Amino acid sequence: MTENKQFPEGFLWGGATAANQIEGAYKADGKGLTNVDLMPTGSDRITFAKGNINSLDLQDKYMYPSHEAIDFYHTYKEDIKLFAEMGFKVFRMSISWARIFPNGDDSEPNEKGLQFYDDVFDELKKYDIEPLVSIAHFDVPVELIKNYDGWKNRKLIDFFEKYSITLFERYKDKVKYWITFNEINMLLHLSFMGAGITINENEDRNSVLYNAAHHQLVASAKAVKAMKEIIPDGQIGCMLAAGMFYPYTPAPDDIFKAMDKDRESYFFIDVQARGEYPGYAKRFLKENNITLDITEDDKKVLKENTVDFISYSYYSSRTTSADPEVLKDMTAGNVFGSIKNPYTEVSEWGWTIDPKGFRITTNQLWDRYQKPLFVVENGLGAVDTVNPDGSIDDDYRIDYLNQHLHELREAIEDGCEVIGYTSWGPIDLVSASTGEMKKRYGFIYVDKDNEGNGTLKRSKKKSFDWYKNVIATNGGSI
Ligand code: BG6
Repeated sequence: MTENKQFPEGFLWGGATAANQIEGAYKADGKGLTNVDLMPTGSDRITFAKGNINSLDLQDKYMYPSHEAIDFYHTYKEDIKLFAEMGFKVFRMSISWARIFPNGDDSEPNEKGLQFYDDVFDELKKYDIEPLVSIAHFDVPVELIKNYDGWKNRKLIDFFEKYSITLFERYKDKVKYWITFNEINMLLHLSFMGAGITINENEDRNSVLYNAAHHQLVASAKAVKAMKEIIPDGQIGCMLAAGMFYPYTPAPDDIFKAMDKDRESYFFIDVQARGEYPGYAKRFLKENNITLDITEDDKKVLKENTVDFISYSYYSSRTTSADPEVLKDMTAGNVFGSIKNPYTEVSEWGWTIDPKGFRITTNQLWDRYQKPLFVVENGLGAVDTVNPDGSIDDDYRIDYLNQHLHELREAIEDGCEVIGYTSWGPIDLVSASTGEMKKRYGFIYVDKDNEGNGTLKRSKKKSFDWYKNVIATNGGSI
């Protein structure tokens, strides 16, 4: 077993967030509404996220956690100072599309929105923290959904291209690391939250989703092209919700099923990293009578504009089977269902905990793409208890992260080129799948509960000093 080995020199340590889960200020300074602003707390959230949303307007009966979130819009200076104290080299954040183009199709960007991100980047610069910016982390301006049907519509490619170019031109001297779409493969599962898509009764679900996916893939390639022209010393990546599927048994049918389930996600990255639709995807589309709205120009754009690096989230491995009876015993996990794996534990939210799966998944991605890898999400959502003296002993989080980082280092020793690691939610934030505050990932505690009560005061958990030490020793303390 490798012990006390450091990570590669210059390794980018940090934390990852998303605009709608931290910023709040959902209408401030001209911001428009996004799909995620329509996601309430409670059981309707996931139903809406999957595409069955009953209204594109806000409703009095709901509480919407993104509206205040943790108020990063006003607290970014204090929060970034704490990230700097931990020694962050990089901070992953996303830009809210509707802060820049409130309606999505506006002719001019919203200067106040642009200024906010300028201020955040300047603050990061003070501490030599590199921003890693996701252009879209689930957000789609609601007006683009109302007027164009979201990513169903090819016109979204042009709006996204304009939005991306606006960002590259404005921030070309401040931001060198970019990600086009967060967890692009999530579109097949959370069609409304990921792409602003609702499926009508007369529509074929797969046809709608794969056409929307195609639009995002072309938009992503166009953003890659624009970034390379505008920021020649920048780097731009794709982003996969990763976690390989294990076959439940060695039965060849189970093994094929696991490979097939992995390909459902790899399909996106195969296009973004290799520049064309893989054979298995063409077969799937043909056999399911899906005709893609794909032009010769699209093919050329995809081919010529592949990504520089592959970024990914890893929370869990997944397990599947070809046997419908076995498939009945499922557990939760980042929207991707999984059979309960008898060899692994689960979190309080039923997500499989599998550190070795992190090493396996990382190796699989490296073997498949041979492009630099960037881990941009990993972490444990857990309930934290504040002790009477205000301290928080989150040893379970330290344990989870320690085990995962150990396996990541093993993957690097295996030969995988990994350039950085940003743990998910270095500061407590709103859960994407449940809208809860009590599902906490942070090294920094935020005083706010599920009902929206609390002072929003920040305090350090035990894991704060632990992570600080990990970074200070470049992983040697793992
Ligand atoms: C990823 C998303 O899927 O998982 C994040 O990119 C999300 O936005 C994270 O927060 C953890 O999921 P959850 O549901 O626990 O917030």
